[in-house]
Amino acid sequence: MCGIIGVSGVGPAVPRLIDSLKRLEYRGYDSAGVAALVDGRIERRRAKGKIRELEAVLAAEPLNATVGIGHTRWATHGAPTTTNAHPHKAGRVTLVHNGIIENFAELKAELAAEGHQFESQTDTEVVAHMIDRELSRGNDPLVGFKTVLDRLTGAYALAVLIEGEEGLIMGARRGSPLVVGWGEGEMYLGSDALAVGPFTQKISYLEEGDYVGINRSGARMFDVGGNPVDRPIVQVSASSALVEKGEYRHFMEKEIHEQPDSVQHTLSEYLDFVNGKAKAGPTDFAAIDRVQIVACGTAFYAGQIGRYAFEKLAGLPCDVEIASEFRYRQPALTPGTLAVAVSQSGETADTLASLSWCKANGLKTAALVNVHSSSMAREAETLWPTHAGPEIGVASTKAFTAQVAALLALAVAAGVQRGRIDAAKEAELVKALFEAPRLIAEAMLMEDALKLVAHDVAKATDVLFLGRGAMFPLAMEGALKLKEISYIHAEGYAAGELKHGPIALVDELTPIVALAPLDEVFEKTASNLQEVAARGGPVIMIAPKSAPDPHGAGIRRVDAPECHSLIAPLVYAVPVQLLAYYVAVQKGTDVDQPRNLAKSVTVE
Ligand code: F6R
Repeated sequence: MCGIIGVSGVGPAVPRLIDSLKRLEYRGYDSAGVAALVDGRIERRRAKGKIRELEAVLAAEPLNATVGIGHTRWATHGAPTTTNAHPHKAGRVTLVHNGIIENFAELKAELAAEGHQFESQTDTEVVAHMIDRELSRGNDPLVGFKTVLDRLTGAYALAVLIEGEEGLIMGARRGSPLVVGWGEGEMYLGSDALAVGPFTQKISYLEEGDYVGINRSGARMFDVGGNPVDRPIVQVSASSALVEKGEYRHFMEKEIHEQPDSVQHTLSEYLDFVNGKAKAGPTDFAAIDRVQIVACGTAFYAGQIGRYAFEKLAGLPCDVEIASEFRYRQPALTPGTLAVAVSQSGETADTLASLSWCKANGLKTAALVNVHSSSMAREAETLWPTHAGPEIGVASTKAFTAQVAALLALAVAAGVQRGRIDAAKEAELVKALFEAPRLIAEAMLMEDALKLVAHDVAKATDVLFLGRGAMFPLAMEGALKLKEISYIHAEGYAAGELKHGPIALVDELTPIVALAPLDEVFEKTASNLQEVAARGGPVIMIAPKSAPDPHGAGIRRVDAPECHSLIAPLVYAVPVQLLAYYVAVQKGTDVDQPRNLAKSVTVE
């Protein structure tokens, strides 16, 4: 999750780029850089570390310019060095990037075969080379840019400067946000409203797949099909975008849409994308013989998804328990157990007490938390950070997927350390994780279909969610989300368990939401759905298009992206969250602050 700013102006650009980067430092801070057009030439200044290091470089070698781009980096591909810092340059093109270019290795090989030489290990640099190649073929910058965008796979936002194109900055958004800021005789690009906040409150939010060319006098925007579009200009308040809803109606909606970014940011902590490796950090999974996860609510379901991965991929026994139960029974734990507290806030009283109990009883401890200065972060021996950013909506969304992403990556690392995963399998699983941000962004496209489903679900008084394997805890999370914000009674069941009792609840008024990725248990889930449909239950099956139709009347399908089964809990979390969200909107509840709930539960 990197920060991006671009200024095409009349006054000095660089001090403003720096001002903006300081506000964006929360998005990443292992290196930073700026590029500016000076006398028709693009010059760069970059530094490893925080923005103050970049300021020192600029003090020694100032840049006087009115047009420039800036970046603060959270490393994904390539170590946090000055050479890997953005902006990246190739020929006439200099650019900054947030996100992951998944197919960079194949593009790099293609360019290398044509004689292109690369100076960094990043995925970003290939994009600069590709745009430069289009320019040298005589293409107009925006036409060439579109040709390049069509060849990129991944989730990204870009800002691009071109030598000889005075005043022009091009931008593109897919999966990662990008906004256009409108000033007086000046224009801006930014990774969020906060980036352009010091200069303007007039913002256009680019939509998925949009690209744009700005210059001092305005913006030319295009949609994913290359058609000219106008995105509305909205007025945002001058206060921090961190606590602004921006283009969204609710924080929950905003946070759902931030997940390609927050999952990518979190995965970059646990994966080495360049070498296709999983990173366990300081944890030695070969030195433990059991994992005990303690958590509450949504974090408990994330832990349960983690359990499937730890046991399957690492052969590591894993128990997951609700912290309020764990702390008051006498759990019989063995010394080789690693106790893991999973928590967004890091302050939940029951989880913290369970963690402290484990520590006091001599166990190794780790805290998977989103607030890195929290009590749990300080109490545990090992901090496993998630990087979801501040979560304002009371119903957890992006913190949940960040927890799941971290647990999946750690399970892969554990499998490698314990000799259960060989190099080829590791590469396959890391690649699958690497695709998660893009597929999460693709899952957002289910929004319109889910709005229609929500319309019907909102009329129900009871809803059942079904899933098998890691989709079972996600079904429970789906039910919790719906309960919390729409106040409709909902339960999540293991699909195979339904016939042992709950099937008695099935009637034509009880929607059944089935989470059915095309995995090794799909056929089993499908036959459970037939059982339900045969009893008149209105089934909503969330499954990829390629999944066969279960025979049976009343099964309504919502198409989900095709994905590797490892990342299905991340991809299917999106429809589950969006469904709850749109049901709540339909019912007119207070989505961000549902009745009776609090964000951080620091009491028992
Ligand atoms: C549900 C939700 C809660 C929290 C739970 C634990 O949407 O947010 O169930 O997951 O209260 O909170 P943390 O993760 O802060 O320990």
